[in-house]
Amino acid sequence: MDAIRATHLTRVYPHAPAGARALDDLTLTVPPGRVYGLIGRNGAGKTTFIRIAATQLEPTDGRIEILGHDVMTETGRVRERIACVPQESRPLYFLTVEEAIRLNLSLRGMSRRLARSRTQDVLAELSLTELASRSISRLSGGQRRRVMVAMVLGTEADLIFLDEPTTGLDPIARREVWGAIRKATREGRTTLLTTHYLDEAETLSSRLALIERGRLVLEGTPQDLRGRVQSPYRVTVEGSFTIEELRSFGSARAVDHGFLVFASEGSARALAQEALQRGARVAFGPVDLEDIFLEVVGRRIEDDREEAAAG
Ligand SMILES: Nc1ncnc2c1ncn2[C@@H]1O[C@H](COP(=O)(O)OP(=O)(O)OP(=O)(O)O)[C@@H](O)[C@H]1O
Ligand SMILES: [Mg+2]
Repeated sequence: MDAIRATHLTRVYPHAPAGARALDDLTLTVPPGRVYGLIGRNGAGKTTFIRIAATQLEPTDGRIEILGHDVMTETGRVRERIACVPQESRPLYFLTVEEAIRLNLSLRGMSRRLARSRTQDVLAELSLTELASRSISRLSGGQRRRVMVAMVLGTEADLIFLDEPTTGLDPIARREVWGAIRKATREGRTTLLTTHYLDEAETLSSRLALIERGRLVLEGTPQDLRGRVQSPYRVTVEGSFTIEELRSFGSARAVDHGFLVFASEGSARALAQEALQRGARVAFGPVDLEDIFLEVVGRRIEDDREEAAAG
């Protein structure tokens, strides 16, 4: 059974400017037991989608089922199966780290024994054991964020919503969160993740959806997404070429220490060979998710501008 099945989902906030839809006829299916990445620019509609899926906000139109249950008519059933870290949320101030996590598990109906042992596990996974008896009010921003993630990953929820769980975390803490998410996946749980770190989205997600202005723009495995761009290879070269020469291989532009060229696989290989012959420094490989994002979303922004200028 699908973890999430959204059909023609639309959301218009009260007092939104005429025609502004936070979600616009969004149809999306999230398969179970994997990490699903939701990416898009600021204001694209990611948090709105999560709030609706997590039963915190009603859709204006369309429907959404979570693990086979309709969020509107079976809200209680849905809530039993999910756990959510909202964007910019913080745990209660007056508790200690250990209490905040354990209390959350007990409130969800977990036995005291299990709540205790799962709390210890998740504290260790997220390197919070040393901070276990410290008051939340005396934590740094990143430490608080990790406690929120621990509160949710410690549960036995089948579907976990993580809205930018690693924003503001240091590179080591980020990787600890990745490890805890992977562990949840090994337990057969589904995670819906939003992030602006596209390396993170690509590393963790088995499928991704790119949304822009509330609409689905691209969907698929990271490999599928690469196949959807015009130039699936990137080459960086330093020196020995003029930009005009490079343009015969693909789309080229100057970057900090040389040039960046997007090209077909054949042209990218030809360019790399030519660069080696000339003794230039060269690196080449498939495009990453950030390249795809910039190409696809960038093209849409340009189209919108042209439309606005023409209209
Ligand atoms: N409570 C609200 N009331 C009115 N409009 C809202 C509200 N929350 C969000 N919006 C609008 O809905 C759109 C989608 O917002 P949303 O928070 O879903 O974006 P997002 O993709 O999560 O962005 P970010 O990456 O910045 O978190 C935006 O245009 C935003 O201005
Ligand atoms: Mg958001």
